[in-house]
Amino acid sequence: MLQNEIHRQVRQKTELDTYIGKFLNNRYLIRDLIGKGGMGRVYLAEDVAKGGMAVAVKILSMNLANQQLSQRFAREIFIGAQLGRKSTHIVRVLSYGVTEDKIPYYVMEYLQGKNLKQILKNETLKIPNILEICHQICLGLQCAHQGVSIKGEIFPVIHRDIKPENIFIIEDDSKDRIVKILDFGIAKFLTEGTGITLAESFIGSLPYCSPEHMEGRKLLDVRSDIYSLGVLMFEMLTGKHPFQIKSNSFSDWYQAHRFEMPPMFENIAPQISIPKELKNLVMACLAKEVSDRPQDISQILVVLEQLQRKYNNLISDKQKNIQNQELLHLVPVTSLSEKICLQKSWPKNQPIAPICFSDLLPTPQGSVPTFWAMLAKKEIAKFIDNNNYTEFIFQKNLYPMILWITVLSDAQFQLTRWLSCFLDLKDIKGQKLVQNLVNTGYYHLLFFALEDPTVCVNVITLTLSAFQRQQLLDWLDYSQKVNTISSLNESKTILKTEYEKIKSDILQKLVNKQKQTRFNIKYWLLNLYGHILSLFPRSSLIEEGRTRKVGKTKRKLVRDSSLH
Ligand SMILES: Nc1ncnc2c1ncn2[C@@H]1O[C@H](COP(=O)(O)OP(=O)(O)OP(=O)(O)O)[C@@H](O)[C@H]1O
Ligand SMILES: [Mg+2]
Repeated sequence: MLQNEIHRQVRQKTELDTYIGKFLNNRYLIRDLIGKGGMGRVYLAEDVAKGGMAVAVKILSMNLANQQLSQRFAREIFIGAQLGRKSTHIVRVLSYGVTEDKIPYYVMEYLQGKNLKQILKNETLKIPNILEICHQICLGLQCAHQGVSIKGEIFPVIHRDIKPENIFIIEDDSKDRIVKILDFGIAKFLTEGTGITLAESFIGSLPYCSPEHMEGRKLLDVRSDIYSLGVLMFEMLTGKHPFQIKSNSFSDWYQAHRFEMPPMFENIAPQISIPKELKNLVMACLAKEVSDRPQDISQILVVLEQLQRKYNNLISDKQKNIQNQELLHLVPVTSLSEKICLQKSWPKNQPIAPICFSDLLPTPQGSVPTFWAMLAKKEIAKFIDNNNYTEFIFQKNLYPMILWITVLSDAQFQLTRWLSCFLDLKDIKGQKLVQNLVNTGYYHLLFFALEDPTVCVNVITLTLSAFQRQQLLDWLDYSQKVNTISSLNESKTILKTEYEKIKSDILQKLVNKQKQTRFNIKYWLLNLYGHILSLFPRSSLIEEGRTRKVGKTKRKLVRDSSLH
């Protein structure tokens, strides 16, 4: 049903859109329409010169009638492309050109996620998220305002069209949000000398346009972008635009931007607690006179960074608590189920090869999640009682599956083995296994020797942190709610790529875990030692000199342990 609907939509788009299915410049195969705005359409395309790499192509809805216009287009895009190289917060422009019909287009990195408009429509952002997004926008803007150097000359770049549609947020489960600004250079090109009037080209952007920009002042400076950023921040904080106008006309917007005072936060969103410094910052950005606004982005960054530090302190206190809780691993009563594991033999339907798979083991105490691995006999001995770490990867919007990873290493980190297998969350077996991992908080890893695969040679038990269990539960819930169109194999490929990317991070976690374990043992031994000493009355220690020495040692022990 869903597939039919998708095919129908694609067919409809293909019928309406002359570009879909065609090549641009013999290189970019236009696949699908991503969206359209006031000045053009953005398509998903394949760069055939780069093995079919996904790219986004923006084709402007205009005709470059003369040579001069073509040159100006090339110049503005070229400057925008320099910015994408300088800042991770500006979309990368890969190439640009003009079609046979003299229609300008440019090719960008393809971003996965949503623009800020789509996000604000569906969610209310929390203050730390808003601070983070604004911080990243400001980093991008600062880089542009500082300018690019062309033939030794510095050209500051003003965006001129900062609005939620032009702020793109890459969403990735494993990493933090990355914010990118889109469409640098385009507004300048379109409003200067193309014959398009401001009202025509900016009808969608008027809600974010500075008063001086609306007045058509030629010499706009960075403070025009700062005004637009102010409107954006107001909207992110309150969910509402500062000005409610009667009609979407140029004159109504001009009236509001030039003369109307933005409402107080208390009146428009009394339920939201916004720090005073942030309210003042937004109001300053919205000042009618350019001289009353922050004069450059660095002034805004100072305030945002101060606020972020404040919030991060609050958050890191919370995180410390979580980490402390994570140290409290429950030691499961596993001797019985471990014994059952040791009686197991390698299944006949599995190859005799260094592989890993999962299974749910029935025991008198209930089902226990297990992973079975086959390795060389001498390697197995090195991993018992040594370092191990569990990690798993999942990505939203794909066919739901988890890539489960157990890393084993010997005591000196000279030998490392990566065991991995997929858990299919659409399959009842996969769901049950994950549910059991959540419930029990541990799993057994059964070792079988390649040389003699008949019987399990050893078994170890690995525990999951409270945080990992919560993550598994969240993913299990999520996967039961969503309908995805990607295939199982597509999902596997993406997860495997992600796995390769995070291998070094996992190794670092393994090393950190070992350090933490050593510290815990040292701390426990020190406490035990101190406790034993306190059981002896001082008089029972034979010599006077010895007593002093013990007293000194004990004081040192207390100091040592408080260091960590
Ligand atoms: N590099 C990209 N990767 C993925 N999606 C993109 C990319 N660039 C733009 N988009 C998306 O394409 C859609 C259309 O973008 P477009 O810039 O044409 O629209 P707009 O910003 O609303 O209008 P305007 O023409 O005024 O810029 C938006 O949803 C945008 O988020
Ligand atoms: Mg845009």
